[in-house]
Amino acid sequence: MEYKLRNGKIVTIRKTRVEDAQEIINVISTADTETLFLARNPGEFQTTLEKEISIIESVLKSQNSSWFVAEYEGEVVGQCSVGLVRNSQRYKHRAEVAFVLLEKYCNMGIGGKMMEECLKWCVENNVTQVELDVVATNQRALTMYKNFGFEVVGTMPKALKYLDGTFADEYKMVKFL
Ligand SMILES: CC(C)(COP(=O)(O)OP(=O)(O)OC[C@H]1O[C@@H](n2cnc3c(N)ncnc32)[C@H](O)[C@@H]1OP(=O)(O)O)[C@@H](O)C(=O)NCCC(=O)NCCS
Repeated sequence: MEYKLRNGKIVTIRKTRVEDAQEIINVISTADTETLFLARNPGEFQTTLEKEISIIESVLKSQNSSWFVAEYEGEVVGQCSVGLVRNSQRYKHRAEVAFVLLEKYCNMGIGGKMMEECLKWCVENNVTQVELDVVATNQRALTMYKNFGFEVVGTMPKALKYLDGTFADEYKMVKFL
């Protein structure tokens, strides 16, 4: 789906295709070097094009999850995922979402458009509870999530340990649909 951003330009948020595999690898590898708010140390995301293609193929077949990319001026600049937290009946009302966007394209509203697409998937799949984890100091992400009505429901102390030995807490956030 195409969305108009604050700067008047268009971002397309669409289902990930197999042909996006290399660009997704590039986005994740670069984003890992740009922020301390993602799950991996720089260089830790090691995959091959074949593996990434095979993951995309399985997500495309999945009833329980979906991936979207953000395409801006012909380039994949971000990626997000939405999926049930577990596949058993008792958990099917709960989904989790995750976002990554190259730093250069942050603060333009693209993250919010990716969120809209994930929330649409949740509604279409009878999800009534959307969840995410966020580093407690990630103010930009927190602002976006709160703008969408997510609330902090808990804190995991020392959720991440960095290479220099310091830690970061993580919030669990929930939005009820
Ligand atoms: C988090 C992320 C997905 C948000 O996407 P985005 O496109 O940058 O977000 P948006 O532009 O839609 O919204 C950001 C909001 O934060 C606000 N913001 C920006 N910097 C901020 C700061 N330092 N403190 C508080 N709010 C801030 C913006 O003003 C905007 O709010 P507004 O719409 O009310 O003006 C994106 O920045 C990202 O991927 N960052 C790197 C990786 C990451 O942190 N991933 C999330 C892990 S949980």
